[in-house]
Amino acid sequence: MPYPEELQRLVERELDGLEFSPEPATARLVEAMRYSLLAGGKRIRPVLALATARAIGRNERDMLPLAAGIELIHTYSLIHDDLPAMDDDDMRRGRPTAHKAYGEDVAILAGDGLYAEAFRHILTHQQGEPRAILDAMRELATATGVDGMVGGQYMDVAGEQADAEDLRRLHELKTGRLIGASVECVLLINGMTRSDTSDFCEFAAELGVLFQIVDDILDVTGTDAALGKPQGSDERHGKRTYVSEFGLDGARELAERSHRQARASLLAAVPNGAPELEQITDFIATRSS
Ligand code: IPE
Ligand code: IPE
Ligand code: MG
Ligand code: MG
Ligand code: MG
Repeated sequence: MPYPEELQRLVERELDGLEFSPEPATARLVEAMRYSLLAGGKRIRPVLALATARAIGRNERDMLPLAAGIELIHTYSLIHDDLPAMDDDDMRRGRPTAHKAYGEDVAILAGDGLYAEAFRHILTHQQGEPRAILDAMRELATATGVDGMVGGQYMDVAGEQADAEDLRRLHELKTGRLIGASVECVLLINGMTRSDTSDFCEFAAELGVLFQIVDDILDVTGTDAALGKPQGSDERHGKRTYVSEFGLDGARELAERSHRQARASLLAAVPNGAPELEQITDFIATRSS
């Protein structure tokens, strides 16, 4: 499946250029942050942000600080997700997880550091009307807080989902909200208001849920080598997932339905077409890593 690799390269360069602190005493913390950050993830969220800029006729390079900040937050979430007290996984992005390489104490701090540095980077370097930047940062903080990713991670560890509706809610929060924010923050920085963006928002929310349904399927059908993380982690921890709830075929059927819904919302948002967003949507539905 084609993927906008040219946008991915822009993101990679921006991330590689980040300098968090010149202080020698924290050099190993910075090394741990860069170890997880520069391990070659797919960069779906920042690429989605740049592709959204293109879809609304803006220069994608202008959104690089936002895009990089979003990837810092995503990387923090992975470091903490893998910790022994969470999913207790030993491999991530094809390498030992941060706590395996640097110890749990440093890994926790590397995650904390990435979260704060994300906001520092965006607030220092992102160009735009101050009001619009503020709106976007409120959206990013909300999407990653209790009414977003962290709330979803809590639901995941608490494991109290009673039915399919609860499971969808969990996916919307733990994964969907940050993916959604990768689209919505670009619209907000470019001065669009919520009423101009409802089709986009529907697209972005559906894409986020689709992403996590496919992640649940790959946890069962993938290989450690392709995924760069341990296959079977969900089952080992007795997690409620789309596969445990609906079976593999049921989950695949729901992924297909979600893919169709995302494509329909995208068409409504950009009737003249948005090639990179279409590519990312299809990539998310059919990916094997
Ligand atoms: C994995 O995210 C964690 C989830 C939210 C399911 P990705 O599959 O985007 O991981 P990377 O960034 O490519 O490593
Ligand atoms: C993690 O979900 C979501 C976040 C990190 C917020 P998973 O636990 O399913 O992610 P993987 O499978 O370990 O990448
Ligand atoms: Mg998890
Ligand atoms: Mg996990
Ligand atoms: Mg998973």
